[in-house]
Amino acid sequence: MAEKFNRATFTRNFLRKLTKIKAPDEMLAEAKDAGLEKTLGAWDLIILGVGAIIGSGIFAVVGIAAAGSADQPGAGPALIVSMIIAAIACIFSALCYTEFATMIPVAGGAYIYTFATLGEFAAWMVGWVLMLEYAVGFIAVACAWSNHFVQFLHGFSKVLPAWIANPPIWLVNDIHSAMKIANDNGVNPHDVIPSVLGMPICINIPAIIMVLLSTMILVRGTKDSTKMAGIMVFVKLAVIALFVLVGAFYIKPDNWVPFAPHGFEGIFAGAFLIFFAYIGFDAIATAAEECKNPQKDLPIGIIGSLIATTIVYVLVALVLTGMQDTSGNVSAAFLAAPMAYCMKMIHQNWAAGLISLGSLAGLTSVLIVMEMAATRILYAMSRDHFISKRFQALHPKFKTPHVLTWTVGLLSVLGILTLDLNIAAELCNFGTFTSFIVVCIAVLILRHTEPDRPRPFKVPFSPWMPAMGIICCGGLMIYKMQSATSSALLFPVWLGVGALIYLYYGFSRNRSNENEIHRQLVHNKNKQEILK
Ligand code: ALA
Repeated sequence: MAEKFNRATFTRNFLRKLTKIKAPDEMLAEAKDAGLEKTLGAWDLIILGVGAIIGSGIFAVVGIAAAGSADQPGAGPALIVSMIIAAIACIFSALCYTEFATMIPVAGGAYIYTFATLGEFAAWMVGWVLMLEYAVGFIAVACAWSNHFVQFLHGFSKVLPAWIANPPIWLVNDIHSAMKIANDNGVNPHDVIPSVLGMPICINIPAIIMVLLSTMILVRGTKDSTKMAGIMVFVKLAVIALFVLVGAFYIKPDNWVPFAPHGFEGIFAGAFLIFFAYIGFDAIATAAEECKNPQKDLPIGIIGSLIATTIVYVLVALVLTGMQDTSGNVSAAFLAAPMAYCMKMIHQNWAAGLISLGSLAGLTSVLIVMEMAATRILYAMSRDHFISKRFQALHPKFKTPHVLTWTVGLLSVLGILTLDLNIAAELCNFGTFTSFIVVCIAVLILRHTEPDRPRPFKVPFSPWMPAMGIICCGGLMIYKMQSATSSALLFPVWLGVGALIYLYYGFSRNRSNENEIHRQLVHNKNKQEILK
């Protein structure tokens, strides 16, 4: 009987600990003492947002979303409808992010919103899943940067030495992509990829250099990083404007007919793919602690960057599908770099070159913001004693979490050496969907548990808007789970590994910290009594 009682008590205590929430006021007090510099204004946030959002989605993925591939139908000229659907799915989550970010403006984004509502275990899992979105996404974008860079070098094959214009595939690709390229070209992979102890080795040099460069920029300071991202944002917006302005003169309205060659199936498949192009606005919330005036600036930053991006994307979609017939087969070059291809098609090679350069700038700013978001989430997790306190160390001069930033940078280099680009990108999508859904749920919970907490920004028409966010993101995620085999299998594995690490490491770290706090309290109390 006693044993039964003990087991029941143990289970109840254990569950209580798993669902233990961290009060928003405690988070705000901790953030006050943290010392991260408050340097970001509304304009910086919009730059961070646009910097994080506009990248390989619009410079590459848009081609497959419009024209389709062997695996899925394309949207055709109805690509603008796909883009608007994806934007609507994002806006529900963006509103929920804004409500939280203005209410609890501390580093950590979705991770801390979960801690304030669903408790310790869910928070750990969301932090773990966010590493898919930002850290694994960071690796995927670094590899995409390398691909674009190689395309850019090919453009100079007449002036550059052959070994630079056409570098060996094992020095500019991840292992799986290099194998595929070799096989596609009818070459035996073992003839072109070196191996160590029978294992083929690829060292994606451009991707590794970009990761190290981004890490160095971030260590130098958030303000410097946003300045840098600002230059990149300007360059990428300038080349997109160039594409729209030049391309508009070459639109053939006949290309817009039929408007939706593959009906709703094509439109929704396109919406799913192009969702990737919107990922990034949520990264703004992770920098909330570094905002000068979060209540006023965060809504402008999050919603402003999403609206600005949607307008840019719709314009690109109109011109792209007006220049190129996307209802039938298109060339592989269009799928790889659609905007640059369209410019070459109309013999504007100078514009094509500039667009390639702009896509490199675009991807660079996405890299910087993704790495920054990953480090800020880990910083918040370290503050909550889930990971070592040493990671909270700030750089003496730049006041940035430099140990953490270098850790993320070096682990990402390891990821580049081992991960497959496509699987990394798909896992990034899974992480994003999950965090969006959790944030929508968390808004509803906090409205219920703390209805009177001041909310500088409120999601309109709650609970309908958050519910729509859950339905839209959940629907897209289920759709993806049915089709993508590798990532659909790896995602539950990632969740399982995260849960195990929590049970064997995070849980006990937190308990030993609780014991330490308790010991301190008792010690202080005894001291006071002696002094009396
Ligand atoms: N939205 C980012 C991109 O398109 C992830 O690269």
